Amino acid sequence: MTKVDNHKKVIRILTFILLAITAVILVLFVIHAINVKNYNEEWRVVTPDSSATQVVVDIHPRGGSTDSWLKTDTGLGTDLNAKIYDLVVTNNAHTYVEDWYIRIQITENCYLNNAWCGKFEVHQFDERGKELSQTVDLRDFDYNDLQINYYHAGQDLLIPLTPGDYLIYHPDAGVSEEVPIKGTADMSGSSVCGIIMYSVSGDVDLNAYELSYRLHQSVWEGKQGSFFIAAFALLALSFMILGTVFLVTVRFEGRIQSQNRVLGDAFKICCGLADSRDYYSKGHSERVALYSRMIGEKMGMDKSDCDLVYNAALLHDIGNAFVSEQILRKNGKLTREEYAEVKRHTVRASEILKEATSIPKAEEAALYHHEHFDGSGYPYGKKEEEIPLIARIVAVAEAYDAMSNDRPYRQKLMREQIREELIKNRGTQFDPAIVTAFLDIMGERDLGS
Ligand SMILES: [Fe+2]
Repeated sequence: MTKVDNHKKVIRILTFILLAITAVILVLFVIHAINVKNYNEEWRVVTPDSSATQVVVDIHPRGGSTDSWLKTDTGLGTDLNAKIYDLVVTNNAHTYVEDWYIRIQITENCYLNNAWCGKFEVHQFDERGKELSQTVDLRDFDYNDLQINYYHAGQDLLIPLTPGDYLIYHPDAGVSEEVPIKGTADMSGSSVCGIIMYSVSGDVDLNAYELSYRLHQSVWEGKQGSFFIAAFALLALSFMILGTVFLVTVRFEGRIQSQNRVLGDAFKICCGLADSRDYYSKGHSERVALYSRMIGEKMGMDKSDCDLVYNAALLHDIGNAFVSEQILRKNGKLTREEYAEVKRHTVRASEILKEATSIPKAEEAALYHHEHFDGSGYPYGKKEEEIPLIARIVAVAEAYDAMSNDRPYRQKLMREQIREELIKNRGTQFDPAIVTAFLDIMGERDLGS
């Protein structure tokens, strides 16, 4: 496996790990978002008896000298004392109070006169329990629109309230910005509403209240929000780095492939020159290289090893360049000297190829491809495992090419004859395992014989 293949494998593993981490983070984020949504949708309640300090209510008379007065033109046969009450809702929570409203139970006879800044929902009940209710903006209304009981006393509106009636105050979300109320994360905030009430005594108890509110938290807030911001930033950064490394690797691989193509063409030119000296050997080296690669694939070699087999096999007969053309093209039987010269092509090739250290196995393929499995070959009479694997592969591939092409001394053999020859020489001339692999290849592919 080449370094580029290793890099791509590492990138694939890292990508898988990152995707797995991303999936886990996304699942956690979805759970977190659901929790936040539930948190934001929950209506919480505060009453005078609540011990909660997150959001607190305080309703008290304003207390200044101009904040209470006597009203004598009531038309009710009695004077009334007026007082301004401040309804204060304070948010001590870390998050915003997104929405709120407060219900005030009336516990004594009194009159609602005015309020700012929101609207009052008035609920009146008569002796028979019949209810009249209406939501009114007390600072901006038309008397003709009022459906509830009221008095128009002097210039004032008086809405009579008796025990059992109740009011609901809805804050103004517009200009007055009573809602939302900031949380402690943005400095604790309050909403203050002024209410004018009339009564005979001048002291109206408004503390039978029930405040309902919803908090709002962003998914990016708090420790968990910070965790997800950091996690997503890290993931994005990791994917960017990984993507950059992948692009660099692909470009590098492209350059290597381009160089390999140049190198491959150079190989083919060299082999073509050697093959061209013998008419019958035209294309021999390239075909032997292709068959050798097929054997390598059949034997389970990975792609880079198969490429090495191909390149080594391509150069196996380069030593033929040193054999005279008369011998290479001779039709008749070779003399002893001529045969000795032919045999020397193996050693001659190895002398050249041992310098070519960047083409591993090429020297072994050239030097030993005429050795026989039983030790009867040349140049050294090596046998079995003494013969390098590449040479045993090339031996079978070369024999197939020789038998499947015409030769000066015979015509090419038929497919079945070649099979028989390979089987006959299995274990003597050829490595049996490689013959088996090649026979499988012949059974699966059309090699053009
Ligand atoms: Fe040869």
